[in-house]
Amino acid sequence: MLLDTYGRTATDLRVSLTDRCNLRCTYCMPEEGLDWLAKSTLLTDDEIVRLVRIAVTRLGVREVRFTGGEPLLRPGLVSIVQRCAALDPRPELSLTTNGIGLEKVAPALRDAGLDRVNVSIDTVDPETFHRLTRRRRLDDVLRGLAAAHDAGLTPVKVNSVLMRGVNDDQAPDLLAWAMEHGYELRFIEQMPLDAQHGWTRREMVTAEEILTSLRSRWSLVPEGDAARGSAPAERWLVDGGPYRVGVIGSVTRPFCGACDRTRLTADGQIRNCLFAREETDLRSALRADPAELGGIEQADERVAELWRAAMWGKKAGSGIDDPTFLQPPRPMSAIGG
Ligand code: GTP
Ligand code: 5AD
Ligand code: SF4
Repeated sequence: MLLDTYGRTATDLRVSLTDRCNLRCTYCMPEEGLDWLAKSTLLTDDEIVRLVRIAVTRLGVREVRFTGGEPLLRPGLVSIVQRCAALDPRPELSLTTNGIGLEKVAPALRDAGLDRVNVSIDTVDPETFHRLTRRRRLDDVLRGLAAAHDAGLTPVKVNSVLMRGVNDDQAPDLLAWAMEHGYELRFIEQMPLDAQHGWTRREMVTAEEILTSLRSRWSLVPEGDAARGSAPAERWLVDGGPYRVGVIGSVTRPFCGACDRTRLTADGQIRNCLFAREETDLRSALRADPAELGGIEQADERVAELWRAAMWGKKAGSGIDDPTFLQPPRPMSAIGG
C-alpha cells in the first residue's frame, strides 16, 4: 500500500507519458513552448508498463490515468494501454487529453482496454479557442470528443478552465452545449502551476463565481459528499437532474484531506502531490542491473520500497494558502495534469 503519515492511501496513479503538447494554452505554457525533456531521460514503454505492474501488484493501485503534456503524442500509447489492461489485477484505465487526434485513435484505444476519457475544452467558440490555446484546432477537438463518445469511452468528461476576461462569461453556454451532447462538464479553478508563473488569486475565477454564473440559467442542488468520495469534483444536479455539473475548486475548496493520488512523470520521478517541491527518482532504480540485487523480484521490490517512502512523505495539503507558498519547480505540463 501507498500510505502517508496522515492516514491517506494512494490508489490512483497518474502517469505522464510526455511533457510535450500541440496546444499552447495561455494558462499553461508560453507561445514558444518549453524546454522539452531529453529523450534519454524519458521512460520507455517497457519501463512504464513495469512500473504500472509494480503499482498494481505490490502497491494497491486500482486506477491508472494517462496524462501529458498531451498523451496522444506518445507513439506507444495504444500498446501501453493494452499491456496495462492485461495486468492482474486489471486497473481501471483512463486518459486525460486535449482531444487532438482522438478521432482517429478512439476505437483502437477502446479495443486496447481504455475505459474512459476526459477531454479539456475551455470554450466552444472558435475565436475564443484560438485566443486561449493559440491554435485553430477546435474542430479536431470536437470531432475527437464525438468519436470517444461513439466508441463508448464513457462517461466522457469535459474539463474547462475559465480565464477572467477571456471565457469566464461562457460558463452557461458551455454547460448547455455539454448537456446537449451528453458530456459531463467540470469547471476547474486555475491553479498556480503555469510555466510562466503568472497566476494570481485575483485573476482566478473561483468556484463560487462559476456557480453564480450557472445559476443565472439553472437551479443547482449539491449532490452531497457521499457520492463524491475522493473525486476532486464537487457535483451539482442541474434543474433537479439527472444531468450533473462538476466544479474542481482546488484552490478555494481543496480536497487534499481525501486525496488518493500518486504521480509518475514522463522521466520517471514520483511526485506525492501536484504541488510537491521534491520528487523521488525511480528511473535509476529501474535501470539498475537486477543481478546486482539478486533478481527481478528483488529489483521490483526495491522500486516499490522507494515508491512507498516517497508517498509516506506526502504533506497534508497543497500549501497554496501559506504566505510562503512557492510554485513547484516544474509546470503542470511536465508534472501531468
Ligand atoms: P475523474 O474524476 O476520475 O474522471 O478524474 P480527474 O478529475 O481526477 O481527472 P482529470 O485528469 O480530468 O483532472 C481534472 C483536474 O483535476 C485536473 O486538471 C486538476 O485541475 C485537478 N486535479 C487532478 N488531480 C489533482 C490533485 O491531485 N490535486 C489537485 N488539487 N487537483 C487535481
Ligand atoms: N490550473 C488548472 N487546470 C489546469 N490545466 C492545465 N493547467 C492548469 C492550471 N494551471 C488543466 C487542463 C486539463 C487538465 C489536465 O488540467 O485544462 O483539463
Ligand atoms: Fe497542452 Fe494541456 Fe497545457 Fe493546454 S493545458 S497547453 S492542452 S498541456
